[in-house]
Amino acid sequence: MKQFKRYLITSALPYANGPVHIGHLAGVYIPSDIYVRYLRGRGADVKWVCGSDEHGVPITIKARKEGVTPQDVVDKYNKIIKDAFQELGISFDIYSRTSSPTHAATASDFFRLLYDKGEFIEQETEQFYDEEASQFLADRYITGTCPHCGNERAYGDQCEACGTTLNATDLINPKSAISGSVPVMRKTKHWFLPLDKHEPFLRQWILDQHKEWKPNVYGQCKSWLDAGLQPRAVSRDLNWGIPVPVEGAEGKVLYVWFDAPIGYISATKELTDDWEKYWKDPDTKMVHFIGKDNIVFHCIVFPSMLKAHGGYILPDNVPANEFLNLEGDKISTSRNWAVWLHEYLADFPGKQDVLRYVLCANAPETKDNDFTWRDFQARNNNELVAILGNFVNRALVLTTKYFDGKVPACGELTDFDREIMAQVAASKGAIESFIEAYRFRDALREMMNIARAGNKYLADTEPWKLFKDDPARVATILNLSLQITASLSIAMEPFIPFSAAKLTSMLGVDRLSWERLGAADILSVGHLLGKPELLFDKIDDEAVDAQLAKLEAAKAINAAAGYEPAPQKESISYDDFQKMDIRIARILEAEKVAKTKKLLKLTIDTGIDKRVIVSGIAEHYSPEQLIGKQVLVLVNLLPRELKGITSQGMILMVEDHNGALVAVSPEKEVKEGTMVG
Ligand code: 2FM
Ligand code: ZN
Repeated sequence: MKQFKRYLITSALPYANGPVHIGHLAGVYIPSDIYVRYLRGRGADVKWVCGSDEHGVPITIKARKEGVTPQDVVDKYNKIIKDAFQELGISFDIYSRTSSPTHAATASDFFRLLYDKGEFIEQETEQFYDEEASQFLADRYITGTCPHCGNERAYGDQCEACGTTLNATDLINPKSAISGSVPVMRKTKHWFLPLDKHEPFLRQWILDQHKEWKPNVYGQCKSWLDAGLQPRAVSRDLNWGIPVPVEGAEGKVLYVWFDAPIGYISATKELTDDWEKYWKDPDTKMVHFIGKDNIVFHCIVFPSMLKAHGGYILPDNVPANEFLNLEGDKISTSRNWAVWLHEYLADFPGKQDVLRYVLCANAPETKDNDFTWRDFQARNNNELVAILGNFVNRALVLTTKYFDGKVPACGELTDFDREIMAQVAASKGAIESFIEAYRFRDALREMMNIARAGNKYLADTEPWKLFKDDPARVATILNLSLQITASLSIAMEPFIPFSAAKLTSMLGVDRLSWERLGAADILSVGHLLGKPELLFDKIDDEAVDAQLAKLEAAKAINAAAGYEPAPQKESISYDDFQKMDIRIARILEAEKVAKTKKLLKLTIDTGIDKRVIVSGIAEHYSPEQLIGKQVLVLVNLLPRELKGITSQGMILMVEDHNGALVAVSPEKEVKEGTMVG
């Protein structure tokens, strides 16, 4: 295996249009933090870069929705994300942002060099254009009916109801999300990276030379390559991003996926003047940590860009993870089905390591995995508290009790002592091999095996029963137990750094180097320990129930908003249905009911009679909007008195995803009194 002189580690740049959640952490940031902490512990020359991805259409959409500028959006989320990462102990060497001037210059120069080398294809394409708003429309800015499932709120790039990836031209009745007008097709020029040209190189580099990549990554690359690569547009008609640095490209910016990975280069430049060593010297090992949705960009597109540019190294590995689900359901930002990092930190102060531990233990390394709050509680109580915390606490408390908190002398060793110490020593190599193979769950298990060995050692030797008769034996047992505890502090550091620091302080030592892990003489005899404290506390049912209630609330909101259909009601017979007399009626008059905010008094023509209905829709419709409208009315509902007015029936309404009431009307005019059924 090639020996490298240094490491450049990158972690996917989170979009600055929302906070990060546990899926991001388990997929990308916890594994990369473990990897980098481990490398640093070994004294490696390593730089770890990350930052916010601050361009792209979703940010402009969010800004428009919130009535603020895109810069406001990215400023807000860059801070939330950066602060939360820091609090969780995610130890980037730099957390930059793609709105930085260094990045604009770096990305612009990169594009220009490729342009000058003739590495792009220029092509005119037809794209949707909003004549009212005088702008081209990104696919996300077009809505219409999904040709697959009939969802009327599908986006030009995807239908969120059925999950199908779409082209804007697939939509039935496309409309601009900006002005609501029907967009027209208009010609526009863009620059394309001819990925097909790089295909032979990519096949050789990935399929022949990187067979060791994780099967999920290798497999995804292979299927892309086998399907045949196509040129990809690297510019967009948009007013948010880095301007295309070419004459005649006014109003065009670099496609976000072109500039974002260059963000890794810009961040390294901001971090060190020596950045070229990390990007251009083949003795640097570059590793991209990403989620599975980013594989194509990091294994195919970005390497093609680097290759086309020339002079850059390519990643040695791209250990992408699969996805983490939450309580059995896909994590979804729009449905608020997520555990947000900043909320976790507020709800569980001082418990960063519990989340780090659980997310690593459960990381979706080879397949999608599930996070549940009960599992979170169980892993804390049964593993961190009962195994790790318990062992450390017993070793320290017994030493305080019998030897005034000083490391006692080690006498002659028994076979069992040697066996346990050999096990601890062996864990070093095992953890190393697992971390270097990006198998962080297995590495974590090995770390915990040190604590398991320690617990077994104390349980089998029972020093508390021996002190009266054989204090020298107890001294040996506690000496070894403390050496194991010191080893643990080293092994814990990459995974649970806060507890590792707490432990080294309880041991009264500075951080120990990785190389000492497994040694039997880390703590010298007579060394005075610090004060023993509990490393972890139990998490009770109440804390977990509160989190589950939060998720239930999100579910209820989603159901009301129509994202998740409410469960079907109890079955009824046809006769039950027949009892409901629903008819087409026309609203003749409408007026507000005095002294109420919500009620409208409607006079309607049911075809049978003219009658009054009081309806709670004043906040959703003005009287003028309703007069003349045909609606569906349940006419045989028993009359009710509302504010002194007798209401005879009910106008049928639905609630949309924003909670607004929408009247249900026949698709075309029908005679009043016609029965629905
Ligand atoms: O998927 C994402 O969240 C992207 N913002 C990741 C970008 S990674 C890199 F290329 F910058
Ligand atoms: Zn659909």
